[in-house]
Amino acid sequence: MNPPSENPDTITIHRPDDWHLHVRDGAMLKTVLPYTARVFARAIIMPNLPDPVTTPAKAGAYRRRILDALPDDGVASRFLPLMTCYLTDETGPAMLAEGFADGVWVAAKLYPAHATTGSAHGVTDPLELGSVYEKMQEIGMPLLIHGEVTDPDVDIFDREAVFIERILTPVIKDFPELRVVLEHITTREGVQFVEGAGNNVAATITAHHLIINRNAMFQGGIRPHRYCLPVAKREEHRLELRRAATSGSPRFFLGTDSAPHAIGDKEADCGCAGIFTAAAAIELYARVFDEEGALENLETFASRAGPDFYGLEPNDERITLARGETPVPKIVEVEGDIAVRPFGAGRTLNWEIRD
Ligand code: NCD
Ligand code: ZN
Repeated sequence: MNPPSENPDTITIHRPDDWHLHVRDGAMLKTVLPYTARVFARAIIMPNLPDPVTTPAKAGAYRRRILDALPDDGVASRFLPLMTCYLTDETGPAMLAEGFADGVWVAAKLYPAHATTGSAHGVTDPLELGSVYEKMQEIGMPLLIHGEVTDPDVDIFDREAVFIERILTPVIKDFPELRVVLEHITTREGVQFVEGAGNNVAATITAHHLIINRNAMFQGGIRPHRYCLPVAKREEHRLELRRAATSGSPRFFLGTDSAPHAIGDKEADCGCAGIFTAAAAIELYARVFDEEGALENLETFASRAGPDFYGLEPNDERITLARGETPVPKIVEVEGDIAVRPFGAGRTLNWEIRD
């Protein structure tokens, strides 16, 4: 799609936030975090570490490790990690509420057990979590959902739509005021669910799901760096996501789901799910909004709708994006022989951040 010629060449927006991000731990954390922190003021930090973030103590310790991993100069040093609680079958509503009241975490994350990377300790049956949902509804704590069923009889491309039908619809019916973010939506059904629900329901959309459809995973051969969960769907779904993201609706906002894995863990017999977009995330989104002739709605999507949903103010600072050249690194070195391959590695993007 060609950008209409009247599209602006520069755009200034409140500094964006990333409402779904994996930063990992240790050397990987130290490597990937600066890419996000240089651009985004805040990010919702996913709790799916090998030892998942299930208690306020673990969340507090992880938050400190993140702050310690920040570069100590400029914008990046002011980055604010917003922590989340990893829900398990054992999570107690009282502990959840206490961590929320103390400001240790701002939301809870629901992974159906074995739905994706790092979800082995997730929830066996999301319909059985009534007391947790009730407490979260009462205190206004957002529930962030990886919305895929794990039933092996359900085709992998249908798992989001079936989750909406079997799990999300009854949960929202029973807890109509529960604040829910359906994360990284990939389908028309996801868009329609959000559009048909109340203001307490929103969704995040990744850059990669706006850019690739499922063919991209098999372009000329198997492409492990284009594999993530939920897996990219048919073109008709991608177009629907682009419509929703660029519509200006405050119910859809930016969540990269940037999920770095060592190259060796992806290029393997059983490669990990996850796409690393943090190396040039806002530039990827800018390209999509430009192509859709909707740059005027980028600020709502990237900088206003998220804070609004979480009851926060948009960031005071602003950033300017301009037509230009952003090279995406071919490879990001971590340590030893460990490295990560970014989405669009080696390409040059046609938007850049101006200081
Ligand atoms: C994520 C990861 O690697 O942690 N992977 C992914 O494909 N998105 C987990 C997740 O968010 O599903
Ligand atoms: Zn994720």
